[in-house]
Amino acid sequence: MKKACVIGWPIKHSRSPLIHNYWLDKYGLAGGYEKRAVEPGDLGDFLQNLAGNGYVGCNVTVPHKEGAFALADVTHDEAKAVGAANTLWLDEDGRLHADNTDIYGFMNHLTESAPHWQRPDRPVVVLGAGGAARGIVYGLLKSGVGELRLLNRTRQKAEELAAQLKGTGGAIHVPEWQDRDMALKDAGLLVNATSLGMDGSPPLELSLDALPDDAVVADIVYAPLETDLLAAARAKGCRTVDGLGMLLHQAVPGFERWFGVRPEVSDELRALIVADLTG
Ligand SMILES: NC(=O)c1ccc[n+]([C@@H]2O[C@H](COP(=O)([O-])OP(=O)(O)OC[C@H]3O[C@@H](n4cnc5c(N)ncnc54)[C@H](OP(=O)(O)O)[C@@H]3O)[C@@H](O)[C@H]2O)c1
Repeated sequence: MKKACVIGWPIKHSRSPLIHNYWLDKYGLAGGYEKRAVEPGDLGDFLQNLAGNGYVGCNVTVPHKEGAFALADVTHDEAKAVGAANTLWLDEDGRLHADNTDIYGFMNHLTESAPHWQRPDRPVVVLGAGGAARGIVYGLLKSGVGELRLLNRTRQKAEELAAQLKGTGGAIHVPEWQDRDMALKDAGLLVNATSLGMDGSPPLELSLDALPDDAVVADIVYAPLETDLLAAARAKGCRTVDGLGMLLHQAVPGFERWFGVRPEVSDELRALIVADLTG
């Protein structure tokens, strides 16, 4: 029986077991997926004994994403692009592979929910330059965005990210964080990739007045499910894209690697996770 897990510290909050065990059950596969709390100092030992512990691979969450990337034998393009991995698997020779499926998760959910999100001559605005934002900016540039405005409270981090991703796609501009309301002018897509607006975090203070009514607004925060940003965007008539879809879609490639079936992100799965988040 094949087994996979999700590792992190802490790990209690992870919804990944709900997602993967739902799919194992749905496709009638003999397998298992569990949470493993791995202390920061134990990551190397844990990954070295992955097969010994009975696992074919694992998901990786905070604070191990960079460490797992550094420890892998083979790193794939998207993990290399962001210097962090969230999905690991062992090949037939026992080599540990690392990839980053957050990018796939975000881009797939965006394209599925708002197929018209990309419009020529309409800039994209991304708020945030942390771990998640890195992958999102990379994914957007790779998909052909011509102009991306990147704003972060700590401007230097946005400038560093812009410098690292120079040449990946279109131009990246870095306006000041306090000018974020005006940075929305003419934008076709706005993405919140900060933790602002998440339960327990400060609110995202942003006026959508300058944002065109036909823009798409995405938030990667998924607790709460409808953030204040998404509610304001919906009230304005904008198409909205929530953070839960990204979480569900990022799980697809890992499940396929470990268990050999490409799973579907269905309404039933979504309802299961929504019930868990709101219950
Ligand atoms: N939907 C999904 O599948 C998914 C996947 C990954 C992450 N997420 C969510 O995305 C969010 C960000 O995750 P992450 O891993 O990128 O975290 P991170 O690396 O810690 O980055 C946090 C980001 O939020 C900004 N920020 C935090 N507090 C702020 C404040 N008070 N004012 C202004 N900016 C602030 C940070 O700006 P500074 O650089 O100035 O600190 C940084 O840009 C979290 O809520 C996480 O749950 C969702």
